[in-house]
Amino acid sequence: MKRWKGRRTGLLLPLALLLFWAHSSLAWICGQEMQDRSQQQNNVSAIMGGKPANISKFPWHVGIMNHGYHLCGGSILNEWWVLSASHCFEQINKSNLEIIYGRDDLSTKNMTYQKVDKLIVHPKFDDWLLDNDIALLLLKSPLNLSINKIPICVSELSDLRSWKNCWVTGWGVTNVSGIKIQPEKLQKVQVDLYRWDWCSYLLPVLTKNMLCAGTQDAGKDACQGDSGGALVCNKKRNIATWYQVGIVSWGIGCGKKNLPGVYTKVSHYLNWIINQTAKAGKPYMYEQNSACPLVLSCWAILFLYFVMFLLTW
Ligand code: ARG
Repeated sequence: MKRWKGRRTGLLLPLALLLFWAHSSLAWICGQEMQDRSQQQNNVSAIMGGKPANISKFPWHVGIMNHGYHLCGGSILNEWWVLSASHCFEQINKSNLEIIYGRDDLSTKNMTYQKVDKLIVHPKFDDWLLDNDIALLLLKSPLNLSINKIPICVSELSDLRSWKNCWVTGWGVTNVSGIKIQPEKLQKVQVDLYRWDWCSYLLPVLTKNMLCAGTQDAGKDACQGDSGGALVCNKKRNIATWYQVGIVSWGIGCGKKNLPGVYTKVSHYLNWIINQTAKAGKPYMYEQNSACPLVLSCWAILFLYFVMFLLTW
């Protein structure tokens, strides 16, 4: 009996450490959205043919402001890094940039901003073809991740058939005919991924680092001001987690029939992201595509608590 008690206390310490680790890793689970249906019924049309988006559904989306004016979108990779598009930052001084996060309404008073410590544009960015249209922004201080500020996941999966349910978000213009209307409320629109061959037939200047998304019917697309924002999808096998597959880059007009929007293909840049973030002293690691996820699920944590309860009883 005594020996069992000794063993029991011996087991408790590693178990408590395991629980502590599980809880701290839960804090940075990427690609999770919070269930909040309060603003779902709103039907105002916008992005191009989209609807207002609630930040709790797209908690990785950030706005990048230049001199206080909306410049581009971006996405949270972790507490230090924001991913965006290179073409947003031509002739831009990083000290004039401010990142707005955890908000879906740009008209909110007393918004909190983050300043940018380092701006890394891709060295091979081609401003004519818009090839390698990707940039990383290192924040001056880390974000406090919370319900409205959650990193997006990335994945090395590049086969289009692995993805479903793709959405793009942004504060870009909602109408290109006549007056350009810039919304204050974040907009979302659902789009389909296009096969590369088909898209390069429609848009012959497409490079292999680009990916197209749009809809059969005209009118649904990202547009000016949405650049840098994330195109996110679910994996067919896991609809609970969101992954960034593209970065809004360019298009011919917006929402025109047979002219899909063009996005930077994020899966081509995972090594670049890992190398650049490590070089800057704040290494970013993503969860590799494996059968066993790095982070324990809530059920596993509950199970650990149950075992702990049995051991202390
Ligand atoms: N280049 C634009 C920007 O800077 C994005 C255009 C996206 N266009 C499109 N049709 N999807 O905001």
